[in-house]
Amino acid sequence: MFDTIFSTVRAFEQLRSEPWNKLGNTLLVGEGNLSFARSLINMPSAGLTRVMATVFEPASKLSEEAIENAQWIKRCGGDILYDIDATKLDSDFPQQKFDTIIFQFPNVGSRKSKYGHTSNHVMARKFLRAAKICLEMHGKVLLTLVDNPHYRGIFKPDEAATFSGYKTPHSYPFDASKFRGYAHTNTNNDDSAAQNYNRFVTWVFEPE
Ligand SMILES: C[S@@+](CC[C@H](N)C(=O)[O-])C[C@H]1O[C@@H](n2cnc3c(N)ncnc32)[C@H](O)[C@@H]1O
Repeated sequence: MFDTIFSTVRAFEQLRSEPWNKLGNTLLVGEGNLSFARSLINMPSAGLTRVMATVFEPASKLSEEAIENAQWIKRCGGDILYDIDATKLDSDFPQQKFDTIIFQFPNVGSRKSKYGHTSNHVMARKFLRAAKICLEMHGKVLLTLVDNPHYRGIFKPDEAATFSGYKTPHSYPFDASKFRGYAHTNTNNDDSAAQNYNRFVTWVFEPE
C-alpha cells in the first residue's frame, strides 16, 4: 500500500517538475538572441504546435547570433517579430491567443524605481496583465527568474499573480543545461540576470 502511495507521489512530483511540455501554440517574449526559442523547437518533448518568438529590440540591433537563430527558426516554420514590448502584448496581438507565453529572465536593464518599486517589478506585473488577455482558456505563462531572495523580493511572484488576476503560481527548478544551445544573454553587458548565479526557477501562472 505504501509503495503505491510513494509511487503515486513520485509520479505526481515528476509531472510537477516539468512545466516544459504540452506547450502548444507558444509566444516567447524578450528573447534576446533567440537561442531559447531555438532550443525549445529542438526539443520534441516540449510539444510545440506553433512558435512566435519575439525580441524587444528592433531588427537593426540584433547580434549576429540572433540573426542566425532567427533564420533557423524561420526555416523551421516559426515566426519572428521585433520591437515587441512584453507589457503591451494585448495591443501587439489583438487577434491571437496562445497556449503558452514564455519570458526567460525578464530584465529592463535599469535600476530606476517608480512608485517605490523597481522597473523590473513594474514591468513583470504589466507583462502578466497583458499576457493574460492573450492566453487561450487553459493557457499558462512561464516566467523564469534567478532563484534567490533578492530576485524574489523584486518580482514577488505570489503578489504579482494576485495583482494580475492569476492563481497562486507553482514554481519549478529551472535547469538551463536541459535546453541544448540556450545561451543566456544579458540586457546590458554590465547587468547580468543569470551568469553570476546557479539556482533558477520557473514560475507557472494560470489565470483565475
Ligand atoms: C536578461 S535578458 C534575457 C534574454 C533572454 N530571454 C534570455 O534568457 O537569454 C532580458 C531581456 O528582456 C528584454 N526586455 C526588457 N524589457 C522588455 C520589455 N518591456 N518587453 C520585452 N522584452 C524586454 C531585453 O531586451 C532582454 O533581451
